[in-house]
Amino acid sequence: MAILPIIEVPDPILKKVAEPVATVDDRVRTLLDDMAETMYAAPGIGLAAPQVGVSERILVAAVPVRDGLSDEQDGDEELGSESFLTELINPVIVEREGIILFDEGCLSVPELTIEVERSERIVIEALDRNGESIRIEARGFYSVVFQHEMDHLDGVTLVDRISKLKRALYLKKRKKRRGAGSGNNPPSLSP
Ligand code: NI
Repeated sequence: MAILPIIEVPDPILKKVAEPVATVDDRVRTLLDDMAETMYAAPGIGLAAPQVGVSERILVAAVPVRDGLSDEQDGDEELGSESFLTELINPVIVEREGIILFDEGCLSVPELTIEVERSERIVIEALDRNGESIRIEARGFYSVVFQHEMDHLDGVTLVDRISKLKRALYLKKRKKRRGAGSGNNPPSLSP
């Protein structure tokens, strides 16, 4: 396993629509392992393949699925717990209902938190690490995590959800900061 560098805006790979995975093989399983390790190390609660420079429809999330349902339960360990891991390949939302508002951050968009409107409940169809079809119902915050990561697969990040002016100011500020030589992100628990 390896910790991979996390790519940040405005890298063009984050704007690309990622390609579906044709075959779930050892290459994909190694990528899933590396993505999980990278996510936990960040620390984050979700990570999509484009965030590590791979434009393919693959994501990991540090949220649990129990009997096909992903929803918060009393007694769940802290967010981002290493005991939680869901891996999705070629995920598609086949049902959605309700509305939920949540303040979201992103490992690829440091120091920006914005409120995003998402579906409260979704049903996802995907492949697991063995190439088997799976169906997951996700609710509430865990539903938000999956929707955030699936946005990455369509080339959408949080900077696409703010105004043109705010985006320009944000990117200018980030450029300056990188120029100052502080390439490291402060730790943040964001998808
Ligand atoms: Ni993100």
